[in-house]
Amino acid sequence: MVGAQWGDEGKGKITDLLSVSADVVVRYQGGINAGHTVCVGEQTFKLHLIPSGILYPETRCVIASGTVVDPKVLLEEIRHLEQLGISTKNLFIAETAHVTMPYHRLIDIAEEQRRGKNRIGTTGRGIGPTYADKSDRTGFRVLDLMQPEGFREKLEWIVPLKNVLLERLYNLPPLAVDQVAEQYLAYAEQLRPYIIDASLLIDQAVRTHRNILFEGAQGTLLDLDHGTYPYVTSSNPVAGGACVGAGVGPTIIDRVIGVAKAYTTRVGAGPFPTELRDEIGRHLGERGAEFGTTTGRPRRCGWFDAVIGRYAVRINGLDCLAITKLDVLDELESIKVCVAYHCPSKTVEEFPSDANLFGRCEPLYETLPGWKEPTGHCRTLEELPPKARDYLEFLAHQMKTPIALVSVGANREQTIIVEDPIHGPKRGLLGHNGD
Ligand code: GDP
Ligand code: IMO
Ligand code: MG
Repeated sequence: MVGAQWGDEGKGKITDLLSVSADVVVRYQGGINAGHTVCVGEQTFKLHLIPSGILYPETRCVIASGTVVDPKVLLEEIRHLEQLGISTKNLFIAETAHVTMPYHRLIDIAEEQRRGKNRIGTTGRGIGPTYADKSDRTGFRVLDLMQPEGFREKLEWIVPLKNVLLERLYNLPPLAVDQVAEQYLAYAEQLRPYIIDASLLIDQAVRTHRNILFEGAQGTLLDLDHGTYPYVTSSNPVAGGACVGAGVGPTIIDRVIGVAKAYTTRVGAGPFPTELRDEIGRHLGERGAEFGTTTGRPRRCGWFDAVIGRYAVRINGLDCLAITKLDVLDELESIKVCVAYHCPSKTVEEFPSDANLFGRCEPLYETLPGWKEPTGHCRTLEELPPKARDYLEFLAHQMKTPIALVSVGANREQTIIVEDPIHGPKRGLLGHNGD
């Protein structure tokens, strides 16, 4: 399950929903930059690193190798869940995941300031610097934390290197090796019971024919390779990232489900052709409570962009879609959908990979009538206002991909199951028929 836009599509809710039939749920990339919200009854859970399947006591939840782990925040998240009565006995952390160190967060924040108008608008959680060190082969893995002597030795090599950056480039006080060692070795002891060879655990689940759900964080347009670079995150949220991040072969994945909002949002900087800086944009933000789960920043809001939707279908090989937050559009007189872009000299229907060109694209819209009635109580397609069904039908045709789930509210039960998202179509009520 992957995000088909710029993140915050409602992946937490959909993972929670799909986890009913999952034996194992795997987070394969990203770190605590993610904020996945799950609402069950009166309770709201905000998860950053722990897979949203954790609310099911028998589901094994894996934080896989492709993630970056901030031990302090992860331990807080574990404690928080335990306090709410959610057991973490089935939580597992890959020993090969990389660790966010104190200097990563400091450098992330300082570098954003240094960039000035070129800043990315990161979550300031040290994600980029952690992945950069992974690529640079100077990172610490969870494994390293478990071996105190080697860990200290490596710190004595790395911390002075980072201190040069902190002091000379960013004008910040240096870090002390002893302090970092003490702090992180204490985290290590608390995390030790959760540490495993994640690829092996997943392989055993494959061999015993268990259902495995790979939960993407962020979204397709935030992908390091395929997103709106440089305004992206530093990992691969796309479906292909699940194989690398979890340590499995592509042959084990049966289906890919894309999650998209019925409109579009984005946090942080970077081009966003359908952005609405007007009253309607504010209305979507208010009705959709569009504030970042992780940073509390207001999300930029705009119309649904089908060009991006088609791109997400292509890059992820989406079999079906889950469309969320349809209810947020309930009060609108009319609703626009971007079907193509007017680039300076021509009209394009496919996402341009040139970021400069993308930044200059003007959306070409089709306008559909609003339904102007509440949808939050609807549990079947038939209960939806006909114009809301038409809207969904339009999206499915634009993306040439069937819609399997429609979400009309944050709660688990506020969901319309159009077709089985896991096993594929039986009815094919919404969406294209291969034309
Ligand atoms: P994620 O990062 O993709 O998991 O999404 P977030 O949790 O960051 O943001 C989605 C927000 O929308 C959360 O507050 C959800 O509780 C909420 N949400 C999810 N689905 C729906 C829906 O269908 N309708 C409404 N109104 N809210 C929803
Ligand atoms: P979920 O999983 C929305 C954005 C940041 C910034 C860019 C880079 O909740 O969908 P980073 O801190 O990753 O280096 O920031 O990516 N970003 C997200 N936007 N949802 C997220 O996660 C995001 N994670 C990162 O706002 O623009
Ligand atoms: Mg989120």
